[in-house]
Amino acid sequence: MSLQKDYEKELEQFDLSMAPPEEEPQRQYYFIKKCRALVKRMEQEAGRPLTASTVTFGCQMNARDSEKLAGILEEVGYRMVEGEDADFVIYNTCTVRENANMRVYGRLGVLGNKKKKNPHMLIALCGCMMQEPQVVEKIRKSYRFVDLVFGTHNIYKFAELLAERLSGSGMIVDIWKDTDKIVENLPLQRKYAFKSGVNIMFGCNNFCSYCIVPYVRGRERSRSPRKIVREIERLVDDGVVEVMLLGQNVNSYGKNLEEPVTFAQLLREVEKIEGLKRIRFMTSHPKDLSDELIEVMAASEKICRHMHLPLQSGSSRILKIMNRRYTKEQYLKLVEKLRKAIPDISLTTDIIVGFPGETEEDFEETLDVVRKARYDSAFTFIYSKRTGTPAAAMEDQIPEDVVKNRFDRLLALVQEISKEMAGRLTGRVMPVLAEEVNGQDASLITGRLSNNLLVHFPGDQSFIGKIVNVRLKECKGFYYMGELTDE
Ligand code: 5AD
Ligand code: SF4
Repeated sequence: MSLQKDYEKELEQFDLSMAPPEEEPQRQYYFIKKCRALVKRMEQEAGRPLTASTVTFGCQMNARDSEKLAGILEEVGYRMVEGEDADFVIYNTCTVRENANMRVYGRLGVLGNKKKKNPHMLIALCGCMMQEPQVVEKIRKSYRFVDLVFGTHNIYKFAELLAERLSGSGMIVDIWKDTDKIVENLPLQRKYAFKSGVNIMFGCNNFCSYCIVPYVRGRERSRSPRKIVREIERLVDDGVVEVMLLGQNVNSYGKNLEEPVTFAQLLREVEKIEGLKRIRFMTSHPKDLSDELIEVMAASEKICRHMHLPLQSGSSRILKIMNRRYTKEQYLKLVEKLRKAIPDISLTTDIIVGFPGETEEDFEETLDVVRKARYDSAFTFIYSKRTGTPAAAMEDQIPEDVVKNRFDRLLALVQEISKEMAGRLTGRVMPVLAEEVNGQDASLITGRLSNNLLVHFPGDQSFIGKIVNVRLKECKGFYYMGELTDE
């Protein structure tokens, strides 16, 4: 599904024998037209339609970027498919932890073998991992069959880079160190008709000492509220009922705009959009979570009852070394405020185990916060050493067996609590957004509660994209079984 078709008319005007325009996004429209001709020629050679696939690693931000990639691929004439049996495969990579990198290398090897059997196949790599010079060096040396490599800052140039590759040969590598540019109005293909991510800001200025994101995603840049609201209005016109506002740290949204606005103010504007039913956002940093935001959430009809509030560690000592800029006590105070203002809110978090220097006492503090905050769910991670971050150079890295033991204990506690928390809505009638036909049982529809839990209930395809009232009959650990009701 393409969002903007206005550019079709513009496309017709371009004369491909002339030089491309300098300004964006017109320059990319020119290259889309060029790619169309090149893909068509390849199709004629192959004697069949060509397929393309985007494979996404990592976070919601990357998922949204992949929709942009898919939008271009579709516009230039590829048929989008799932999986890796396609004529054009692009990996949108993540580098937040080392194991994400290892998975990419493993799968790339398999992809290389597929390419040997398909003369029309092209392989591209983009995303956070490509912002690391040693990764690109390794690809140049050991994965020479890759056709195109670009990073997080120049993703808007995908059509241009693709045109370059399709009209030449050999590996094309284009990585930028940083950018202050935001290019709007490029085509994109949404995964779901009824819900969509919306970027509100890019980059991150926090420099938590373990995290590579500020190095690979660059400095914080907010989009203007006007552009965000306009994009959501268009999405709503196109059938979207739920948006997820995306940023590395949404609570510091708007601080660097010419006319600064707060995230809470943005939410107030988004709330006013007629036809929009649900608003989610990701990710919140506890240090910037304001009382104003809590007030706006509590009063809102549309903001979902869910807050993802990464803890990382429960030890104030470790939090300081992590450069998180809050203490255990401040975090717990925030949780208390949130639960008081929005009693049915679901709280989720991210926790890292085994940060350098973490003692048994520090770890016990983390368990203590988990017990007190009572998370609905928590993503638990083993600390991963990322080259170039301050934590990578710290002494006292924790031995693997100690970390593994702590990780298992944390996971057991998190699971025990989330099971107890999940069941608390049993018997209630709640609005559910019907999302898809259940993969295992086609007589069931899978939907989502405002608090992000899944519900399965009898229904058919016609419900998808609608918000319906469902009685939550039974909690099965991490999801509910329910039935439709008129109540
Ligand atoms: N090691 C382990 N986990 C990490 N995260 C970020 N950097 C690292 C790292 N070096 C986790 C944090 C963050 C989530 C997206 O990934 O918990 O919130
Ligand atoms: Fe991975 Fe972070 Fe990049 Fe998202 S922003 S893809 S989590 S490294």
